[in-house]
Amino acid sequence: MEIKVITGDIAQIEADAIVVNLFEGTTQPGGATAAVDKALDGAISSLINRGETKGKFGEINIIHTFGKPRQIGAKVVAIVGLGKSQDFDTDKIRGVAGEFCRALRKLNCHKIATILHGTGTGGIQPEISAQAITEGALLGLYSFNKYKKPEYEDIEEMLIVIRESDKIPILEQATHKGSVVAEATNLARDMINEPANYMTPSRLAETAEEIANIYNLEFHIFDSADMEAMGMGALLGVAKGSGQPPKLITLSYKGDKRSEKALGFLGKGITFDSGGISIKPSEGMDEMKGDMAGAAAAMTALVAIARLKLQINVTAIIPATENLPSGTALKPGDILKAMNGKTIEVINTDAEGRLILADALSYAQKLGLSPLLDLATLTGACCVALGTLYSGIFSNNQNLTDKVLKAAERVGERMWQMPMPEEYKEQLKSEIADVKNIGHKYGGAITAALFLAEFVDNTPWVHIDIAGTADSEKESGYIVKGATGIGVRTLVELASSEAKNQEAT
Ligand code: BES
Ligand code: ZN
Ligand code: ZN
Repeated sequence: MEIKVITGDIAQIEADAIVVNLFEGTTQPGGATAAVDKALDGAISSLINRGETKGKFGEINIIHTFGKPRQIGAKVVAIVGLGKSQDFDTDKIRGVAGEFCRALRKLNCHKIATILHGTGTGGIQPEISAQAITEGALLGLYSFNKYKKPEYEDIEEMLIVIRESDKIPILEQATHKGSVVAEATNLARDMINEPANYMTPSRLAETAEEIANIYNLEFHIFDSADMEAMGMGALLGVAKGSGQPPKLITLSYKGDKRSEKALGFLGKGITFDSGGISIKPSEGMDEMKGDMAGAAAAMTALVAIARLKLQINVTAIIPATENLPSGTALKPGDILKAMNGKTIEVINTDAEGRLILADALSYAQKLGLSPLLDLATLTGACCVALGTLYSGIFSNNQNLTDKVLKAAERVGERMWQMPMPEEYKEQLKSEIADVKNIGHKYGGAITAALFLAEFVDNTPWVHIDIAGTADSEKESGYIVKGATGIGVRTLVELASSEAKNQEAT
């Protein structure tokens, strides 16, 4: 979909549909909505008076004009509810944009026009609104069409209609930024939605290579012999059961040639998690094709960062393998030696994400990356603790955590900080190895994070458990069914704010 910013009167725009809005409890439409109401001879006011339109968040009322009255250029007028003005924020704009785009796509609209939402009484800056509309629209219209024809035709064009032309350049910059981050998120969604028989570790590596070629990034793919040489026994241990060769992928973007420093984004790349010998129940096992959502987020965040030409250096590190049972598979009770020399007693082969990340973390520190952020669909326990709206964030550094939480909040990705109490470390003690790979029954997301911490020295590090948030069972706002692409926007936002900070110093 093409997104353009133009000046004009929304009522006059020639399009299949125009979009205006209302806050909940509005009795008299204002601004552009009032102008459209007037052109419609008070149709919107009468819908409000009848109680048909309430302005509730996400509510969409459609008025079909059939080309009459002549003061209106569009055949369809959509009135979207912004909800209560006191609850309003940027993420609500993304949400309504997703909702109205899907509703208008169902009505076979190909060209739509919208006003900026929330910039009047909502108090949102025009450029923030334009970026949010762009993101919400592109994310909300996403569907994975590779193996099945889409149900509806695409909306080809969305016009954002404003009154004053002097804002056009800044709003075009905003829609560009919004498109870049939304497209990166949708690329992550594509990768995650792919079935595991397509998205193997090798294919993940090929995808990295393609990305590297398009965006001029450095990339490196290590195979099992390289891993052997580097002593990555934990990653190799997980890979033992699979017929697919494991890959360790690195992608580097250098946007700040003057500096040696680089951020490290790590992503869990289990392309299918059957649990291994500690096999999972078959119900819902298909969802474990998405156990590489962290990997997809780390890789595609680099795409956006490169496209935005941020002045910063970032390296993504992706340990990729399947976790399958077989005659050669890792067994409960086996002991692995990780790259940092620590020995790990594997009690449960289904706690494999932490094993591959252990080696990836060691490698990231060997490269001198700092700070480190890892994203992983790591534990079912995190879904139990926080549900499907919040990712859990764990860290050895509060300053970094605060930065990530703020970045996440700005982009509307909800995260909740979890504790890492020393006392729980005891649970990871093994009789015969340095650590074991699982703790007790309770607090599993925390013991998983504490396990990862065993492989981080003094480097500031944040671990984000996205097991609950990486996919969605229902569509709502800018989230659609299937992969959400969680994490991409936070990583890009964090890189963007770090790049700006460097400029200031
Ligand atoms: N990939 C799973 C975690 C997961 C669960 C992701 C649900 C998405 C949705 C992970 O590898 C796993 O199996 N973790 C185990 C750990 C346990 C054996 C300590 C879990 O959470 O049950
Ligand atoms: Zn597992
Ligand atoms: Zn897993």
